[in-house]
Amino acid sequence: MPGQKGLAVPGPTNMPFAVRQAMDLPLEDHRAPGFPDLVVPLLADLKKVFLTETGQVFLFPGSGTGGWESALANTLSPGDTVLAAVFGQFSHLWVDMCRRFGLNVHAIETPWGQGIPLDAYEAALRADTTHQIKAVLVCHNETATGVTSDVAAVRRILDDTGHPALLFVDGVSSIASIEFRMEEWGVDVAVSGSQKGFMLPTGLTIVGVSQKALSMADTAQLPRCFFDYRDMVKMNAQGYFPYTPATTLLRGLRASVDLLLEEGIENVWARHNRLARGVRAAVSGWGLSLCAQEPQWYSDTVSAIMVPDRFDANEVIQIAYHRYNLSLGAGLSKVAGKVFRIGHLGDLNEIMVMQYLGGVELAMRDAGIAFTSGAGVGAAVDVLSDTVAAQRIAAE
Ligand SMILES: Cc1ncc(COP(=O)(O)O)c(C=O)c1O
Repeated sequence: MPGQKGLAVPGPTNMPFAVRQAMDLPLEDHRAPGFPDLVVPLLADLKKVFLTETGQVFLFPGSGTGGWESALANTLSPGDTVLAAVFGQFSHLWVDMCRRFGLNVHAIETPWGQGIPLDAYEAALRADTTHQIKAVLVCHNETATGVTSDVAAVRRILDDTGHPALLFVDGVSSIASIEFRMEEWGVDVAVSGSQKGFMLPTGLTIVGVSQKALSMADTAQLPRCFFDYRDMVKMNAQGYFPYTPATTLLRGLRASVDLLLEEGIENVWARHNRLARGVRAAVSGWGLSLCAQEPQWYSDTVSAIMVPDRFDANEVIQIAYHRYNLSLGAGLSKVAGKVFRIGHLGDLNEIMVMQYLGGVELAMRDAGIAFTSGAGVGAAVDVLSDTVAAQRIAAE
């Protein structure tokens, strides 16, 4: 099909040209004397993206799922209890992994479309006077439903109840896109991957680990080898890795971290918020609803949009893909056929968002969903042009 392909899924995301260019180089010797010149500053600069001063960031060949595994395997022992909530496919999968590792999971089933049930977390932690719960899991941005949860509030609950459990956060679709403060929120393991906010191909597990979590590695009994933080600590200190690193991706990551820091991490968050508000205005303009039930949970990186009852969201996705060369995210598991998702994260600007929204209008029209042509696009124009103008004026 002629023309560019639209990639509006919530990861993999669009790759900036500078990142692609940075990866167009011959393979290199990862044990070369000069290799630490890449690694040491890169690991230091990643801390500025995670916003941690005392923690360490590790890079494994892998994906976000590997980050989940590293958090469990380095800090816990078989039979340990973890507290978690299931409110979408990714929070479900992390809990499933905990069970496969032989952990005792106190899983709070939560309606899909809602976020972390803070009251239930507080009740469980207060009731746990003997501190059986060793880790609290939070899926910061549930990509399946477009729901962002309040990690800072979970930290407050841990502090208020004086509970010593570790705090693990899945930041796969939040870190490097929406507000995430590892140090301030007392996060012990922050999990991410390369193919979302970091704007790279899939292939890196990126984890931020607190000193408290690191100190558990000697006593934790779960089996681990590939993801052992202790091996990373030793080798990273000299600017190397315990095994062959994904050198090309590291070069790309250098370029992507440069872009993020150049823009300023808070400006990156603000851009995602502005673009997300444009998408949400379009959804209202179409007369449709988000899967996220309340504004407090609206995600600035992905919107899961409910189609009217008698329609199949997969048909919209199929039409968008085959007729208009636009990839939209599918509904997963419980919400399959009920929602389509627009990913709005990574290397993205107003024009790209307008392109996606126009594509969605074309596909929904063909699928027979009733709405006034341009209602969503027009609503987004009002929000995005207003905010861009407002920013310009503020800067003048
Ligand atoms: C919130 C969340 N957690 C975890 C994962 C799993 O990450 P990966 O597919 O990189 O293993 C994803 C993937 O989309 C995700 O969105």
